[in-house]
Amino acid sequence: MEEIEAQIERFIKEVDDSALELYSHASKGKRLRAKLILKIAGENESSYKLAAIVEMIHAASLLHDDVIDESLTRRGSDSINALYGDKTAIMLGDILYSKGFLELVSYDREISEAISDAVAKLSVGEMMDVTLSENINLDQALYFEMIYKKTAVLIEATAKSAAYLSGKDAEAFALYGKNLGLAFQIIDDVLDITMSDLQLGKPSLADFKEGKTTLPYIYLFESLNQEDTQTLNALYKKELSGEESRWIRTKMQESGAVLKSIELAQKLGYEALEAIAFDKNSDLERVMREMIERDF
Ligand code: FPP
Ligand code: MG
Repeated sequence: MEEIEAQIERFIKEVDDSALELYSHASKGKRLRAKLILKIAGENESSYKLAAIVEMIHAASLLHDDVIDESLTRRGSDSINALYGDKTAIMLGDILYSKGFLELVSYDREISEAISDAVAKLSVGEMMDVTLSENINLDQALYFEMIYKKTAVLIEATAKSAAYLSGKDAEAFALYGKNLGLAFQIIDDVLDITMSDLQLGKPSLADFKEGKTTLPYIYLFESLNQEDTQTLNALYKKELSGEESRWIRTKMQESGAVLKSIELAQKLGYEALEAIAFDKNSDLERVMREMIERDF
């Protein structure tokens, strides 16, 4: 991974030294997308560069997202907008994103198209997320479209591009990436309900308060009687008391809404493993299993 970090820094330095200085204050994350590229396409100059490009685009999207969400922290540290203001965060995002595209154009058309198409969809996904957070959403199709675009689409395009780069079955790896992204987001939505603040490293039960009716909430609404539906409606976008938090958690377990969400994420994960079974890639298998076969 040091190779990727160094490549990202070289790319940013080629644009501007002060952008690199700013970037050094951004939190770096798990580099999931870069790891996927190296696990699928192997380690070479083109895979390192593609991994750096995708991570720069992803970092840009998070810089902009923290401005949109007015979020002052990112992965437990101060966000760039918290440290230097919204304008700086947006402009640094623009630099990362446009340099990423400049480097992307030297790749084959299948790759540059897959990634650019994903970024357009990512932006639509972010808009959907904002709009869907205005009111309670009980429409599963809209939820799945939003998490596909906001989270899964770039992981799908990343895995697909890595397969192109190494002459592997692009569609099989695209399905792996798509389902990895969908399962990741569903599990993230489950953990917001089942984990404590301490385990999460951020406040739990934050989604509903922020207006997000994630999959477990959609399932829960489908199963509640009229009285409980009214109670849950009244808690939407509200700062929850201890008793209200316990009420939501109990109903989530009793109704099976949490379990149903976990089972769907696991089904998507196993489907993805089947799609790439021919490749006998134990690293990719482990990435998926660690995500779906964990404690919830
Ligand atoms: C995080 O979601 C947000 C995303 C994964 C996508 C954000 C996309 C854009 C802002 C549009 C694309 C822009 C560029 C420059 C490429 P979240 O808020 O649910 O998650 P969080 O808790 O990590 O903030
Ligand atoms: Mg956000």
